Amino acid sequence: MRTLKEYFVQAKEEKWAIGHFNFSTADQLKAIVETAKEFNSPVMAGTSEGEANFFGHEQVVALVKSYQQEGCAVFLNADHHKSFESAQAVIDIGYGTVLIDASKMPYEENIRTTSQVVQYAHAKNPEIMIEGELGYLKGQSEVQETVEISLADYTKPEEAKNFVERTGVDRLAIVFGNIHGIVTKQEENLDIAVLQAIVVAVPNTFLVLHGASGLPDQQVKEAIQNRITNVHINTELRVAYHDALETELQKEPDQTTPYKFLAPSFEAMKELVKKKLQLFGSVGKI
Ligand code: G3H
Ligand code: ZN
Repeated sequence: MRTLKEYFVQAKEEKWAIGHFNFSTADQLKAIVETAKEFNSPVMAGTSEGEANFFGHEQVVALVKSYQQEGCAVFLNADHHKSFESAQAVIDIGYGTVLIDASKMPYEENIRTTSQVVQYAHAKNPEIMIEGELGYLKGQSEVQETVEISLADYTKPEEAKNFVERTGVDRLAIVFGNIHGIVTKQEENLDIAVLQAIVVAVPNTFLVLHGASGLPDQQVKEAIQNRITNVHINTELRVAYHDALETELQKEPDQTTPYKFLAPSFEAMKELVKKKLQLFGSVGKI
């Protein structure tokens, strides 16, 4: 199996992006992996601290490993881990890559914490890719009416350069108009000029678009054409699961067999993952 880093190098050269989907249940993971396999697409599956706590860290690692042993190009990411200790724990358990998200800390503390994780991971295995985060990425992975965002929240290109040089991160999560979650009473707008300035500042770093749920396809495409190589989706997958399940339970209120009442949500998630992989251009890249 090719490494995640190799796929990132290819994605950057060819201007497509690796999809990252969050999960907290086995059927979500199965929908992600099955779809990626059907479309010959590499894929990242990620758990935040909360998602992993629900599933069980060891269990997540074991399950992803079993898919990898079947030949699936699925890579497990510890998403938005907020401290050195929690990043260290998942690296020790066997996660292949980590986002150390110290972006809420003061700048120098973010650098210190992120560097600590990079050093720990790379000493263990240089193939473990570490992502850092810079800028204030607001919102939650849920449906919200509005999320206030200002230019002060955006990643500053000169800070990105300094951050990458001093931490040695492989990937950088940036803020240029993106927010976590879906907003219903506001338009989400990516500022491509800010992305372009960041690309110039850190040409050798893989750039990550978080909070892609709710963004119009055209904007995601434009971000990928401008060197975003990794796109994160969580809320849209949660909504697809929830809505299809709600409809099914209303339609068949007496059905108590999980694999029956979960079938429509499973298919809804697969459909969503398919659309996103096509949008990201990763179909057929294995
Ligand atoms: O790390 C997770 C993603 O950034 C999720 O964002 O909920 O807006 O899809 P989203
Ligand atoms: Zn995120």
